Amino acid sequence: MQKSNIVLIGFMGTGKTTTGKIMSNILGYPFIDIDEIIEKRYSLAINEIFRLKGEKYFREIESKIVSEVSKNKGTIIACGGGVVKKSINIDNLRINGIVICLKADSEVIYKRLSINNEIRPLASDKSKEEILKLITEREELYNRADIFVDTSNESPFYIAKKILISLNFWKMD
Ligand code: S3P
Repeated sequence: MQKSNIVLIGFMGTGKTTTGKIMSNILGYPFIDIDEIIEKRYSLAINEIFRLKGEKYFREIESKIVSEVSKNKGTIIACGGGVVKKSINIDNLRINGIVICLKADSEVIYKRLSINNEIRPLASDKSKEEILKLITEREELYNRADIFVDTSNESPFYIAKKILISLNFWKMD
């Protein structure tokens, strides 16, 4: 049987990268972070790409990388929060993958984003109201996921375990 990819989507600060790395360790599947691939390939940090080339350009290269990694099998793929802005990305990711959306209360997201927010061009220097507006605008787009997991009050390890149980990867005694 071919192994599916496990694809993590969700708003910034919902824990996609941390959870993905834990699942990768438990399952032994390789872990791929789309933003990290972009940064390595273009030798620029994400916020520099936004600053120098703009969001439209970033979305184009994001789609290119998504289409490449969607051809993999048996990998954990953490996507940037805005991957849902182009529906073709989700179409591609679903070809070989099951799509998990990590969610969190907007207050929790805001708190998480206020730490270290300079690395996130769409969160840095944003007021609470602006972040809440972006969360609301994106809400419907995330609904294309197959499975939804709330990460507000649980540790990343618990979330990883919960996802693996729901996918029948974690055997319960
Ligand atoms: C973005 C989320 C970021 C990164 C870029 C744009 C977004 O990834 O791709 O800054 O539009 O929500 P994280 O969700 O991993 O922070």
